[in-house]
Amino acid sequence: MGAQYWIIPPLYTLQILNRAQAVGIVAFLCVSAVIIAMGEAHRHARDELQKSHDELESRVKERTGELEAIRGSLRKLTGHLLQLRDNEQRKLARELHDSVGQLLVAANINLSFVEAEAAKLSPRAAAAIAESIILLQQTITGVRSASYLLHPPLLDDAGLTFALRAYTDGVTSRTNLEIDLIFSPDDLGRFTRDLEIAVFRVVQESLANIHRHSGSRVARVRIERSPAQIGVEIQDCGRGISQRLLADIESGRTAGVGIGAMRERVRELGGTFRIHSNGNGTCVQVDLPIDSAQRISLAS
Ligand SMILES: Nc1ncnc2c1ncn2[C@@H]1O[C@H](COP(=O)(O)OP(=O)(O)O)[C@@H](O)[C@H]1O
Ligand SMILES: [Mg+2]
Repeated sequence: MGAQYWIIPPLYTLQILNRAQAVGIVAFLCVSAVIIAMGEAHRHARDELQKSHDELESRVKERTGELEAIRGSLRKLTGHLLQLRDNEQRKLARELHDSVGQLLVAANINLSFVEAEAAKLSPRAAAAIAESIILLQQTITGVRSASYLLHPPLLDDAGLTFALRAYTDGVTSRTNLEIDLIFSPDDLGRFTRDLEIAVFRVVQESLANIHRHSGSRVARVRIERSPAQIGVEIQDCGRGISQRLLADIESGRTAGVGIGAMRERVRELGGTFRIHSNGNGTCVQVDLPIDSAQRISLAS
């Protein structure tokens, strides 16, 4: 049996026996060639695809990097602009208070002297003097409140706690909005100018929004200082902001700039800004880190 399979004559292994076999082999070779060619073409197409995918990816990476850089410089610019605006407002407020305000007060004193001698004047002149005094007093009040709104003088002189108390008292008397102002600890102490103005502006803008948009008659402002940060929360019981508007606010698509400016100001100082809202009201939450420089001023 072994002997039968022992030698396979090599002569016949490659021998083509008949025409049908020849056609079969040719057909086999042709089909194989086609399959190999298709495989090659597929591999080539896949390589090309991979190449353009890699190219696209690196271009996307490049563009993302560029966008990040642009976003970074926009943030820097916004922070710089906010700081410039703060400085300009502070200067203008001082100028209004110290120069225009003082001149108006001096003019008012002079007119009061004249009024004291009104008996020597004609009735028309006396009435004109009395009316001028009233007009001047209204102007003095207007200039004072404009100066105050531009930059609260108490903020630089006495710090956040006093400035916010005076400010919220003013809002309550002007608008009837009842404000519950809570500090923890009772006196927050002093911080750097940037941090104090940021907290003040967040409270100011949030209360303005509550007054203008919420319909709420009450507001709660809570400010807490811990060793590492200062937390601010402003809550109202108004109609709230729709989820759609909130999403627009998040992506900066709204016309209003108040919330956007608050967020940028907070981000500039390395803090976090959140706004939650539903049918029961709106809550703005801000956390600002107190860095070492601010702690030094806190201790001093
Ligand atoms: N406390 C709030 N209650 C209800 N709606 C609010 C409140 N705060 C903000 N909004 C809504 O969000 C919008 C954007 O606010 P903001 O950025 O401050 O711009 P502006 O006050 O100039 O309209 C407001 O127009 C208002 O519709
Ligand atoms: Mg606003």
